[in-house]
Amino acid sequence: MRHGEFRDDRLVTLYDVEFPWSRDDDFFLSVLAEEPAADVLDLGCGTGRLAIAMAARGYRVTGVDPARASLELARSKSGAVTWIEGSTEVLPAAAFDAALMTSHVAQFFVTDDEFAAALADLRRALRPGGRLIFDSRDPADRRWEKWNPADTRHTTALPGGGSYETWGEVTSVVDGAVSCALHYVFSDGDVRMSTATLRFRSESSLRSLLGAAGFAVDRIYGGWNRDPIGHPDGEFLVIASTGV
Ligand SMILES: C[S@@+](CC[C@H](N)C(=O)[O-])C[C@H]1O[C@@H](n2cnc3c(N)ncnc32)[C@H](O)[C@@H]1O
Repeated sequence: MRHGEFRDDRLVTLYDVEFPWSRDDDFFLSVLAEEPAADVLDLGCGTGRLAIAMAARGYRVTGVDPARASLELARSKSGAVTWIEGSTEVLPAAAFDAALMTSHVAQFFVTDDEFAAALADLRRALRPGGRLIFDSRDPADRRWEKWNPADTRHTTALPGGGSYETWGEVTSVVDGAVSCALHYVFSDGDVRMSTATLRFRSESSLRSLLGAAGFAVDRIYGGWNRDPIGHPDGEFLVIASTGV
């Protein structure tokens, strides 16, 4: 299933096991705290790990995601966040002081036209001076070369008993668009698969798309400890703003 990792009722229960709180989340919280913000958007909030943590810190948080199964799991965990099913088309105008896209949500907008439209919607959803904060993997790091069965295969016990084995593989790389598949084999014999295509954009492409949407780029870090671009973390950690 395309995006089964986020949309399939059984696979979505594995997301928090596979992706617990990490230094990425600490980075986003620390950048968010640099400027006053009351209303915060978490676009592509998934199962709500960061959205719920931001709400616990006193932000009014709206979590938006097109994957119903992820959003239902998030909703079951917390009533302190406004959860909305959809993508940028559902965003109200001038409603947020900061918008975040974390765990590489930006790369799920595969074509530049899709990403440009999303950025324009995000620009409209932010208030004057509002900030857009997101991560996108640096193509120079060639991270997809590590997404192979040998490097990714692992078996994990499920909290309620049983286990699953999972591994990833890349099925194509075309012009910075990397298509991959995640395989899951449960100890009860159930076999499932999730596919996705992620776009790896260069720094200049990100800057140009942000500029065209009316954002000024404040900073781009290359690693989670606010390292320069080219750091082995292989990230572009982008902080942009709408200006006043
Ligand atoms: C890797 S998960 C990240 C989830 C969450 N931000 C986190 O840090 O765990 C990517 C999320 O992006 C969402 N997504 C995919 N396409 C999207 C789109 N066009 N608009 C908004 N979210 C999207 C998926 O449904 C999924 O929940």
